[in-house]
Amino acid sequence: MMSELKKPKFYSNHRHRQGKKKEEHLESGNNLREILQNKKLNILDIGFGTGTSTKQLYRNKKDNYICVESYLQGINNLKKYRDKNKIDNMFVYHGDAVEIISEVLPDNSIDEILIYFPDPWPKSKHHKRRLINVYTLNLLFKKLKKGGLLHFATDHIIYAYNTKNLFEEFIGKKILFNSNRRNRPITNYEKRGLRRNNFVFDLIVKK
Ligand SMILES: C[S@@+](CC[C@H](N)C(=O)[O-])C[C@H]1O[C@@H](n2cnc3c(N)ncnc32)[C@H](O)[C@@H]1O
Repeated sequence: MMSELKKPKFYSNHRHRQGKKKEEHLESGNNLREILQNKKLNILDIGFGTGTSTKQLYRNKKDNYICVESYLQGINNLKKYRDKNKIDNMFVYHGDAVEIISEVLPDNSIDEILIYFPDPWPKSKHHKRRLINVYTLNLLFKKLKKGGLLHFATDHIIYAYNTKNLFEEFIGKKILFNSNRRNRPITNYEKRGLRRNNFVFDLIVKK
């Protein structure tokens, strides 16, 4: 049975420190649509945490980055890096990724979507908070270009298998965990998982 088609329930541990004001999703002074049409790859980085891995990726290759996070300190950190280095092709959005992606991104515009170590919400009563469900997959695949890819990584074995099943159901064919991490840097949450001797699972699906 196809899993439910509802928007994931947005839950952030950090929200109480961020006030209740509705987020303004548009970054002033930046021309997102124009940049998305230049010759570089368009990378959507969802839930980047502190931004450490995003910075590393950008240092290695200056693609266009659209970065979404609900953790204000991470947002400020990445914006500071971007502004200090006068980077004009990195867009940093604060708030619920699902809402922001639907509001600001044109369809068929993204080459790669990165979702590294999203919160696994292990208790079944909290599964509705998981970022990845059929609703989100529909949205993300709409935003991907044909041939674009979605790269998901987690060190939570049950979330890994649940997501694999969901992807298979969604794309209609069997997939394997990827033995190749591509260019995925070691993120803070991966470090934490490795300290606990957790195995890391990569899933890569193409549109
Ligand atoms: C477990 S952390 C992983 C951070 C980083 N990717 C890493 O691997 O170190 C998950 C991040 O996703 C963010 N997050 C969760 N749900 C989100 C949502 N709906 N919209 C934006 N960010 C979200 C959280 O604030 C958190 O920083």
